[in-house]
Amino acid sequence: MGKSISSHSITHTKRIAQKIAERCAAQKPGKRAMVIALEGDLGAGKTAFAQGFAKGLGIAEKVLSPTFVIIKSYKIPLYAGQGKHATLPRWSGQAGYKLLYHLDCYRLKSGEDLVSLGWQEILNNPQAIIMLEWADRVKSVLPPRAYWARFSHSREERNARTLALRFPAVFLRDIS
Ligand SMILES: Nc1ncnc2c1ncn2[C@@H]1O[C@H](COP(=O)(O)OP(=O)(O)OP(=O)(O)O)[C@@H](O)[C@H]1O
Ligand SMILES: [Mg+2]
Repeated sequence: MGKSISSHSITHTKRIAQKIAERCAAQKPGKRAMVIALEGDLGAGKTAFAQGFAKGLGIAEKVLSPTFVIIKSYKIPLYAGQGKHATLPRWSGQAGYKLLYHLDCYRLKSGEDLVSLGWQEILNNPQAIIMLEWADRVKSVLPPRAYWARFSHSREERNARTLALRFPAVFLRDIS
């Protein structure tokens, strides 16, 4: 379960995230929230990924880095996960994912800080998808089931990034 992809532009990074989102939304929610942890240096493309992901969920609002508010939530439209990259069987509507939480943990010192912001409550919502930037800072409170995307800059090319993705294989099939 995992794949490394070279992204050559911000648009490419967003497109990768959008496809993965369509597949995430097509999953049947489990007992607790889906957690997607993003890790990588400043400017590595974490927010770009979150923007593409939100688009793939059908969220029309503009997604910005919640650096100061730390947590921002967005309603996922009822028919998310029905785009052409969705996996079958499709699972959406009332019983599907309903909320995307976008977190920026840059200003947090540890997992304890996240707990004091109501982390457990968010995590206990089975119809939530939680995406965290700077997830490595709060690793101690992330569940082992979390999916990971690690971003790194290329030394040679200004617009190249490597995305090391640890997601179930069905989410990554045909994505490049
Ligand atoms: N292949 C690429 N993928 C993503 N972003 C790219 C790529 N190439 C260049 N960029 C540029 O890199 C920057 C990425 O910024 P972004 O805010 O997504 O990074 P970040 O990881 O969220 O940073 P921060 O840690 O400050 O939140 C943007 O200015 C974008 O235009
Ligand atoms: Mg960011």
